[in-house]
Amino acid sequence: MYLFKRVSDLQRYISSQREQQKNIGFVPTMGALHEGHLTLIERSKSENDITVCSIFVNPTQFNDKKDLDKYPRTTANDISLLTQKGTEVLFLPPPIEVYPKGLDTKLDLKMGQLDKVLEGEFRPGHFEGMAQVVKRLLDIVNPHHLYMGQKDYQQLTIVRSMIKQLDLPVKLVMCPIKREADGLAMSSRNVRLKPDIRRQATILSQTLEKAKAQIGKISPEDIQKEAMTAFDIPDFKPEYFRIVDGITLLPVEDASQSEEIVACTAVWAGEVRLIDNMILK
Ligand code: PAJ
Repeated sequence: MYLFKRVSDLQRYISSQREQQKNIGFVPTMGALHEGHLTLIERSKSENDITVCSIFVNPTQFNDKKDLDKYPRTTANDISLLTQKGTEVLFLPPPIEVYPKGLDTKLDLKMGQLDKVLEGEFRPGHFEGMAQVVKRLLDIVNPHHLYMGQKDYQQLTIVRSMIKQLDLPVKLVMCPIKREADGLAMSSRNVRLKPDIRRQATILSQTLEKAKAQIGKISPEDIQKEAMTAFDIPDFKPEYFRIVDGITLLPVEDASQSEEIVACTAVWAGEVRLIDNMILK
């Protein structure tokens, strides 16, 4: 595996590969890699000649400084996992390479409600910073395909909208959520869950599964109410459980009126904020 820290070195390598008609797949991450991330690498490897993974804990998307400080950093293990998977390239830039002095990386996107609902309500500025870094990384890597997880459904929706608005020459590929055996969606933050809270964290996926069984039978509003009640357990604090249209992210009042329906939730499990979602229709 090649490891590049500098933009110029990575770009020289990518240009030479593109000149040889090689397809480039790109998997942006913030590291602390787990099997969920690795499914994206596998997918990219199966569809491209070269897979580039980036690891960059992007400060501009953390609205909470404590969350940024506590974000797990496991670079040596990440390098070992990526090597085992046969990843061709790791891009591991220092902040100055992503945000060099004098370069304006701010975007002016028209997101409408997309970045204001759900996570947007609870993490102001998060999606602006996320879109900024994804655009910057796409400019640097110049891939044919971009692989992102359904785990961060709203993030993916916003990136899809950005690609459309800016007419970026990349195809976005959505990869399904990889779960632990008990249903908990894999996340870099899971390592911070205390054992008893980790055991109870299955309540998120169980409640989403229940919503999937209930949709079309009882109203989305009643499903949401039941879900919020299910999360009413010590040490757990739900922020939201919402049934939304998969494209607009607006609330669904009548399940028969949307083609794509997703249930999205965010819950504090002790000190750790967990998000999860399930496509209901
Ligand atoms: P990160 O949380 O490291 O996630 C990197 C990618 O892995 C995202 O596309 C995410 O949706 C996907 N992913 C995470 N957990 C997953 C799981 N259990 N199953 C499948 N895919 C999963 O998301 C980010 O980083 C950042 O916001 C980033 C896009 C890199 C911009 O900084």
